[in-house]
Amino acid sequence: MASSARSLVVVLLGLCMLILNAGYGHGSKVEMGSYSKRKTPRNLLDNGLGRTPQMGWNSWNHFNCKIEEKLIRETADAMVSSGLAAAGYRYINLDDCWAEPNRDSQGNMVPKASTFPSGIKALADYVHGKGLKLGIYSDAGTQTCSKTMPGSLGYEENDAKAFASWGIDYLKYDNCENTGTSPKERYPIMSKALLDSGRPIFFSLCEWGQEDPATWAPKIGNSWRTTEDISDNWDSMTSRADQNDKWASYAGPGGWNDPDMLEVGNGGMTTDEYRSHFSIWALIKAPLLIGCDIRAMNNQTYEILSNKEVIAVNQDKLGVQGEKVKKDGDLEVWAGPLSGNKIGLVLWNRGSSTANVTANWADIGLNSSTVVEARDLWEHSTKYSIKGELSATVESHACKMYVLTPKH
Ligand SMILES: *[C@@H]1O[C@H](CO)[C@@H](O)[C@H](O)[C@H]1NC(C)=O
Ligand SMILES: *[C@@H]1O[C@H](CO)[C@@H](O)[C@H](O)[C@H]1NC(C)=O
Ligand SMILES: *[C@@H]1O[C@H](CO)[C@@H](O)[C@H](O)[C@H]1NC(C)=O
Repeated sequence: MASSARSLVVVLLGLCMLILNAGYGHGSKVEMGSYSKRKTPRNLLDNGLGRTPQMGWNSWNHFNCKIEEKLIRETADAMVSSGLAAAGYRYINLDDCWAEPNRDSQGNMVPKASTFPSGIKALADYVHGKGLKLGIYSDAGTQTCSKTMPGSLGYEENDAKAFASWGIDYLKYDNCENTGTSPKERYPIMSKALLDSGRPIFFSLCEWGQEDPATWAPKIGNSWRTTEDISDNWDSMTSRADQNDKWASYAGPGGWNDPDMLEVGNGGMTTDEYRSHFSIWALIKAPLLIGCDIRAMNNQTYEILSNKEVIAVNQDKLGVQGEKVKKDGDLEVWAGPLSGNKIGLVLWNRGSSTANVTANWADIGLNSSTVVEARDLWEHSTKYSIKGELSATVESHACKMYVLTPKH
């Protein structure tokens, strides 16, 4: 076919799909106030996973390449003994550096003998025995980002089958050492390979937000990174929250925007900053993937990560990503609807001195005459009969987080 004719066919096909999809718009009853119009993903990846954002742990933020099977087993132990598993954290995810540099003679990736001598299947059995799930890592390129192990480009079916046979439950799929072709070409191949692998495997795309994955990844993945890697500091964390915000309307049950993993407990931010990090990630339905050493976390870290009221906002079944709805200099209001006509609300002071932050009912989609009950999720206390606005004095880089329940 001549290329112009081919383009015409592509355009016509595209139009047909648009028209077909229009019929499947999820009645957007959650549209209110200044929240953006929902574009709840259509044609979701059909693996039944990610109905709420994934919760768990990943090795990268704290350990980088220095991982071995004993650490992973101890992390699974700590997940259960600390109470974090009971709070909802499920996935224990290996990141880069788990394999030998070369494939074996059958073309399979080989667990690194010096660090994973028992193999990945044995590790999966151990983690499953704790009631948890095991995640693994690969890359849509010739090597992973560490360049110490192979990527899966060209080996997608082979690797998906191997992961399934080992009992893997989750794949984070990175974007290094790619051959320059679009992620839109490379990621769907692995998505299909995972679907065909015979095991439900959560698919976490990590193409760093390069080609606006929110607009195409819901069909092929359960979450997609919207940003480059997070670092353990305030500027990195806040900028990722902001970059992720513009894609809010694309998230929903089955597919989530991913502003990268949590740094809570790694030491580079204050307790107030970490509490803000966790509150915002929960409100915006980000994956809650712990990135610290949970074998050695202190009480403040545990208190943040295990706050069940904050986690309940993240895991709310309505699955609507909260958004920045007001900005007054460094003072911000983030909010989003929850099931049962409730509203999740964060009053965030990003400035350098204590300030009063106010959410007016109009900012968050409430009728000016509505009376609410306001549950403070960090103080674990309730204020009754609040009308018109909610205001709080908030310290520098801290936030207040509430669930508002309209009464009449
Ligand atoms: C941490 O919590 C434990 C158990 O509640 C308590 O025994 C310990 O004293 C606390 N440590 C600090 C530093 O607060
Ligand atoms: C916050 O508001 C209260 C009550 O209006 C006021 O007394 C206080 O000075 C304000 N604090 C700041 C930091 O502006
Ligand atoms: C707000 O509530 C009042 C009193 O119940 C009602 O008359 C009005 O229509 C409501 N406005 C909106 C925008 O829902």
